[in-house]
Amino acid sequence: MTATTSLPTAADVAAAAERIAPYARRTPVLSTRVDGRPLSLKLEHLQITGAFKLRGALNAMLAAGAPERVVTASGGNHGLGVAAAARMLGAEALVYVPETVPEAKARRLEASGAELVRTGAHYAEAAEAARARAGAEGLRYLHAYDDPDVVAGQGTIGHEIAVDAPECDSVAVAVGGAGLVAGVRLGAAGLRVTGVEPEGCRSLHAALAAGEPVDTPVDSVASSALGAARVGDVPFAVLGAHPVGTALVTDAEITAARDRLWEEFRIAAEPAAAVPFAAWLADRLPGEHTCLVVCGANASWTPEG
Ligand SMILES: Cc1ncc(COP(=O)(O)O)c(C=O)c1O
Repeated sequence: MTATTSLPTAADVAAAAERIAPYARRTPVLSTRVDGRPLSLKLEHLQITGAFKLRGALNAMLAAGAPERVVTASGGNHGLGVAAAARMLGAEALVYVPETVPEAKARRLEASGAELVRTGAHYAEAAEAARARAGAEGLRYLHAYDDPDVVAGQGTIGHEIAVDAPECDSVAVAVGGAGLVAGVRLGAAGLRVTGVEPEGCRSLHAALAAGEPVDTPVDSVASSALGAARVGDVPFAVLGAHPVGTALVTDAEITAARDRLWEEFRIAAEPAAAVPFAAWLADRLPGEHTCLVVCGANASWTPEG
C-alpha cells in the first residue's frame, strides 16, 4: 500500500454491489440446523467460476474502466475470477500460478481462455514473476487481495448476508491474504465477523501478533487457496480500523468439516471453504446464529456410481 492508497469503505462496498450486479450471481443463503444448533450457509461456491473471487476481479476491472489486458497471480480461484471477468468485459487475462496449483484449478484456468503461466513453488514466487511482466509490458496488475477495489468487491458477500440473512448475528470466513474478511467486515454492518485460519497458514494471526503484516510459513491442506504468506497492507489497515474476531483450526478439523459438508448437504467444497465450518463445529465462533461463507468448490470431484 502506498501513502496515497485510499482504504475501501462501506460505501465502496455498496457501490461495488451495484457495479457487479449485472455480471455476478447473488448466491443464496441456506438457513438450517446442524446438531440442533441454527446455522446459515452463504452458498458462494455457486458463484460463476465456483468461488467468490469473481466479485473482486469484476469490481476492480470495472472501476478501472475495463482495461484491455490484465495480469495477475493466483493460487487458482482469483485467476479463475480474473479470467471470467476479463471474458465478460471483452479483455485478455494473463494468469501466473505456482507449479503446485491443483489440477482441478489448472484445468479450469486453461479452459477459461486465459494465458496460463506456471512458475514458482508458492504464490509469492508466481506473484513476483507476474508483477515483473506487468511492469515490463505496462499492464494492469490485479492483486488477489491487496487492492481497495478487490476488497470492496469481496465485501459484497457481507452486504448480501446482512440483507438476505437477518436471522444471523455473526459471519465467519476463511482468511488467506485477508481481502475477503476485510471486505465482509465492511459490507456486513452490524454483524460480528470472524476470520478463520488453518493452524499451518496463519498470516492474519501472525500480523495481529506483530502489529503489521509479516511473512509466515504456509503448510496446510487448504494452502492452495489460503496460502498467502502475509496478509495484504490494504486489508490489514481496514481491519485495524474495523477489528474482527479470529479462530484457528487444524488440518484434521478442516478435512472432517469438508467431509461433513458433503455428507450433510452434498456440498463438494474445497478445503478452504470448510475452514469456517470447522471452527463452527469446534464451537470457536461467537453469536447465536452464524452465517458461514462456503467460499469455493474448485476441488477434484468424481462421482463414484
Ligand atoms: C476458496 C477461497 N477461500 C478463501 C480465500 C481467502 O481469501 P483472501 O485471500 O481474500 O483472504 C481464497 C483465496 O484465494 C479462496 O480461494
